[in-house]
Amino acid sequence: MRRAVCPGSFDPVTYGHLDVVSRAAGLFDEVVVGVLVNEAKHGLFTVDERIEMLVASVTRLGLANVSVVGFSGLLVDFCRENDIAAIVKGLRAVSDFDFELQMAQMNHNLSGVDTVFLPTSPEWSFLASSLVKEVARFGGDVSQLVPSDVHARLKERLAT
Ligand code: PNS
Repeated sequence: MRRAVCPGSFDPVTYGHLDVVSRAAGLFDEVVVGVLVNEAKHGLFTVDERIEMLVASVTRLGLANVSVVGFSGLLVDFCRENDIAAIVKGLRAVSDFDFELQMAQMNHNLSGVDTVFLPTSPEWSFLASSLVKEVARFGGDVSQLVPSDVHARLKERLAT
């Protein structure tokens, strides 16, 4: 059985993430969406909230072979502990490639785990959680960029 991880911060999940996760689910027997627990960095949403939103999206999409969990520490340790053979990352543009290549090579050097890059669908190539939050914070319309429940939570969180 081939198991892969789609790691990230997912603060919050966007249609760009879901594009990569759903395509990974078609390539691997099982996909684990790994939400980074970073004590040093507080996001807009807690890790539990991010996981809740991801689970809702994955369920809505009917992705039966996808699970969502939080992880802390090194991604390669998470892979080893969970018998994960591959890391799946989306590449939006050439600008993503430098750092992603560096991380892929570091992770391979540390543990032998391979990284598979998926080109993000062109319709989402400009999309990033950080931009979604910034646009929403200043009243811009992000309703086409994130699932409707995430949109509602964003508006609620930014109103407080
Ligand atoms: O969504 P992000 O914030 O771009 O995701 C970055 C993430 C979580 C994939 C990356 O920071 C990561 O793998 N963190 C875990 C710690 C780790 O293994 N660092 C060494 C990477 S070579």
